[in-house]
Amino acid sequence: MSLQLKRSIVPDATREKTVAILQGCLVDLLDLALQGKQAHWNLLGTRFRSVHLQLDEIIDAARMASDEVAERIVTLGRAADGRAAEIAGSTRLEKFPGGLLSVDDAISHYSDRLAKTIEGLRSGISQLGELDPISEDLLIGISAGLEKHLWMMQAQEV
Ligand SMILES: [Fe+2]
Repeated sequence: MSLQLKRSIVPDATREKTVAILQGCLVDLLDLALQGKQAHWNLLGTRFRSVHLQLDEIIDAARMASDEVAERIVTLGRAADGRAAEIAGSTRLEKFPGGLLSVDDAISHYSDRLAKTIEGLRSGISQLGELDPISEDLLIGISAGLEKHLWMMQAQEV
């Protein structure tokens, strides 16, 4: 027998679509945090320290956001899936390059992943308005924060 919450706060018809959108964003956010650590550890060059610390701020934001999204999924009555194999299998972010990398390359690669995560969030936002405004509001707040981080990261590219 599968476990289930007794009381539902959304109609069945909208729940599955909403949860699928949230699950896609959850995986991207988890991967964004993991890739952030990959960049944080393997940077080399001038501005190392500021970018190293800046990446940790973004990682904290991505982790907190992933927790909020996962808990929203369970609030809606479905299980969140944040397992490593699920992240590897369904992330929409490109794999981060291995090895040591220059600060400039790290900024460029990580900005690309931030932008891709935001693209997924914004796509979700555009669909959630009619499905579940509470989930829409959650993704709007997360995207706003990450968009500011993207600004501060890519401002260093010029
Ligand atoms: Fe560290």
